[in-house]
Amino acid sequence: MFISLSLYWPITVGYLLSGAASAMAQKSVTIQNDDPLVYFHGRWDSSPGTWWGGSGFKLNVKNLESLTLNLGPHTTAPLTSVGVSLDYDEFITANISQGSNVIPIPVSFKTDSEKKTTVVRVNVEGWQNNRMNLESITLNQGALLVPYIPSELAFQFIGDSLSAGQFLPQGVDQAWPFLIGEAFKAEHIVIAQPGAALSDIVSFGNEHGVSYQFFRTEDTGYFDTTDHNFTTPWNFARDRPAATHVVIHIGANDAAQNVTDVEFVQVYTDFVTRLRTIYRHQPIFVFTPWGWPNPDGTFGQYFEGQYQKIVDLRHANGDENVFLVNTTGWVSYADVFPENQHPTVLGHERIASKFQTWLENWGLKPESRWTNL
Ligand SMILES: *[C@@H]1O[C@H](CO)[C@@H](O)[C@H](O)[C@H]1NC(C)=O
Ligand SMILES: *[C@@H]1O[C@H](CO)[C@@H](O)[C@H](O)[C@H]1NC(C)=O
Ligand SMILES: *[C@@H]1O[C@H](CO)[C@@H](O)[C@H](O)[C@H]1NC(C)=O
Ligand SMILES: *[C@@H]1O[C@H](CO)[C@@H](O)[C@H](O)[C@H]1NC(C)=O
Repeated sequence: MFISLSLYWPITVGYLLSGAASAMAQKSVTIQNDDPLVYFHGRWDSSPGTWWGGSGFKLNVKNLESLTLNLGPHTTAPLTSVGVSLDYDEFITANISQGSNVIPIPVSFKTDSEKKTTVVRVNVEGWQNNRMNLESITLNQGALLVPYIPSELAFQFIGDSLSAGQFLPQGVDQAWPFLIGEAFKAEHIVIAQPGAALSDIVSFGNEHGVSYQFFRTEDTGYFDTTDHNFTTPWNFARDRPAATHVVIHIGANDAAQNVTDVEFVQVYTDFVTRLRTIYRHQPIFVFTPWGWPNPDGTFGQYFEGQYQKIVDLRHANGDENVFLVNTTGWVSYADVFPENQHPTVLGHERIASKFQTWLENWGLKPESRWTNL
């Protein structure tokens, strides 16, 4: 019996495999990257591919059982790390590469009879090596995309390494801006470039400052990229919904590059004036630095008093919708990595908790429920 089975084994398995493969090819559902039911967020170039940590897409799927991301040649090699969240659960890292990438769907998230849809959220985590060139998405037979309804609350964060989640295991997904977006059940986009000044100067490997790069599709990585060594203007109409709240935390690298107080106030107020052509009526929150904590309890400070001056100048110009967020005391030495004084995972959680309290006192409440649930 064993002998006859082994004799026939190759033929039988070969038949079964090709039968199963062709059945899957016929029945699986392919979603093209221009499908209007794919909700893109963050910055995507025309390939289409992501730039800037936190950029990604969201799906709302009926009968979800399997998910495969088919990625093109502009994907970071050998891999890019994405956070994947199902039904607003925590983000779990998946490393994905050019070609087909099966994203595991735990049984508990597969659509059952009680539950109408599964919300899938995918975003690149890294402040570099963050290019996901999405060609198509393969779903199981019977899966059906339905509209993803974005939250009415939408944050736009602007910053440097202190907002990008540099040095964190899961990058921007563990950084305070992302955590705030999640805590408020909001859409959120983080445009933050480690090492960059606000001033449009070369700084720590960045060819441009954030006052330039914020308006471009590509992050600073374009400069070291052979297949896309250029930038294109970002079409802000693609941010849907438009940000309802704008948060800026920047200046550490201007200070490191010896930008003077007077120059910094000028570049910052010019930047806010330009932001006002996009965000005409939205509140803009201006963070003061929390400083660089030292082991002896002191802080390295920069541009002391200047952020207040920036806000005062906006008010004097009739723009009352700019608010100073005084972050003094939000971060201590225990909250940072000793080798680079950047907040740890717990440090970022602490900052997010402080800012959430600040925003609630200011008058913003988290949404009571996630959309699509
Ligand atoms: C993803 O890749 C990075 C870099 O190679 C590695 O450190 C990390 O452990 C990987 N994570 C997962 C979930 O595979
Ligand atoms: C990108 O272009 C700039 C000048 O336009 C050049 O200096 C740089 O070396 C280029 N980078 C790569 C990786 O080719
Ligand atoms: C900034 O100024 C300090 C003190 O004068 C100097 O040591 C440092 O080299 C300067 N840094 C830059 C980037 O110019
Ligand atoms: C920020 O708060 C600290 C501590 O409460 C206070 O000393 C400082 O004056 C405040 N700064 C501004 C600009 O309000």
